Amino acid sequence: MLTESPREQWGSKLGFILAAAGSAIGLGNIWKFPYIAGENGGSSFIIIYLICIAVIGLPVLVGEILLGRTTQRNPVGAFKALNGSKFWAGVGGMGVVAGFLILSFYAVIAGWSIGYIYQSISGDFFQYADPAKAADHFVALTKDVVWIVSYFALFMIITMSVVYAGVQKGIERGSKIMMPLLLLLLIFVMIRGITLPGSGEGLKFIFNPDWSHVNGQTILIALGHAFFTLSMGMGAMLTYGSYMSKKDSVLSSAIQIVILDTFIALIAGVAIFTSVFAVGLDASGGPGLIFHTLPAVFTIMPGGQIIGTIFFILLTIAALTSAISLLEVITAYFIDEKGWSRHKAVIVFGTVTFIIGLPSALSFNVLADFNIFGKNFFDLVDYLASNILLPLGGLFIAIFIAYVWKFDKALIALKDGSEKIFNKNPLIITLWQIFIKYFAPVLIFLVLLSSIGVL
Ligand code: PFF
Repeated sequence: MLTESPREQWGSKLGFILAAAGSAIGLGNIWKFPYIAGENGGSSFIIIYLICIAVIGLPVLVGEILLGRTTQRNPVGAFKALNGSKFWAGVGGMGVVAGFLILSFYAVIAGWSIGYIYQSISGDFFQYADPAKAADHFVALTKDVVWIVSYFALFMIITMSVVYAGVQKGIERGSKIMMPLLLLLLIFVMIRGITLPGSGEGLKFIFNPDWSHVNGQTILIALGHAFFTLSMGMGAMLTYGSYMSKKDSVLSSAIQIVILDTFIALIAGVAIFTSVFAVGLDASGGPGLIFHTLPAVFTIMPGGQIIGTIFFILLTIAALTSAISLLEVITAYFIDEKGWSRHKAVIVFGTVTFIIGLPSALSFNVLADFNIFGKNFFDLVDYLASNILLPLGGLFIAIFIAYVWKFDKALIALKDGSEKIFNKNPLIITLWQIFIKYFAPVLIFLVLLSSIGVL
């Protein structure tokens, strides 16, 4: 059943770009990217990551947004509209499920970020100049069920209120305020990092390639991260694309989103590594880099309390604009396919996501010893969604566009709004064809094999 009321749309192209960049820019850029770059040799990893973004990320992102814009539907409806088979509707459904799963653990980490704003303002974590002590403090906080669940709930409520307000009044308006603020705050933190004595070591780490660290695994990690950071493979970009006007260019929007996302990841890397190196700490702190190493950095560096507070505010904003896009996928599905009202869909599925996320939140305390396939619940959901469902979704999107919907038809749809760009640069068409037909499917397939341990 389809809804009677007209489908919502973005108010402007800029609104779409900011909302989509908001989805892309998140914990992936500020929490995950710096630590995986830190663990994999810094700049050499970054170069490989940039290549992955250009040859796989951008072409598949263009395709995903295009599917949404062409059909003006949620992920399930989009595949159904272009191909009647149950299989492809199931692929869309897999995206909706992945969105649920990602949001359920993503909001737990985002909750820590809100908690750390308070930690920073109250000065609680400024007693830990030693990262090992800061780590103990973090572990103690996450062992506290009330602490972890309340901040998780708070973050879900904020996310739900934005999505509840609608595409233009909630998501677009929120992104127009939050995204410029995020950029400003991050640049401020970066300038503080660069101006610290000894920050040059951090810059060297990011900009002087060290190829000795690079192996097959590095490439696979970089490619896997390209999906997560661009919110690709589960229909978030497809759903945002479905609110886009046919007059606007999918190609130029996708390029701008990719540039913004990459730029923010690099600034976050510079901000974090210059600070970490300046105070003489270890850059390969892993997932704890932000919650263990950085509090120690903020304790040591002059002006650290203000910078620390700003940092966790910006991290929360980044997480919020991404979480909104995750909840919007489920919401759009229930509005389009089941005829639900936006308000009902948000309240029901925001609550369901919270319930599904509880075992993830409890993985750090009461369920710490509960392991499935050697992973706790949190790690399992993260692994399943980020390493399996997203690449699988991306693989299907590339195959669908190239071989099921067919490249030529997709190209006609892509030309809407992009005529000028194509007339000036016809080579883009050939490149998109090669990447979406051959590069993307083959490389993503390799990532998947490595994710399930075959490679
Ligand atoms: N791109 C987000 C980040 O980098 O944090 C994470 C994400 C958001 C993944 C939305 C997938 C998604 F649909």
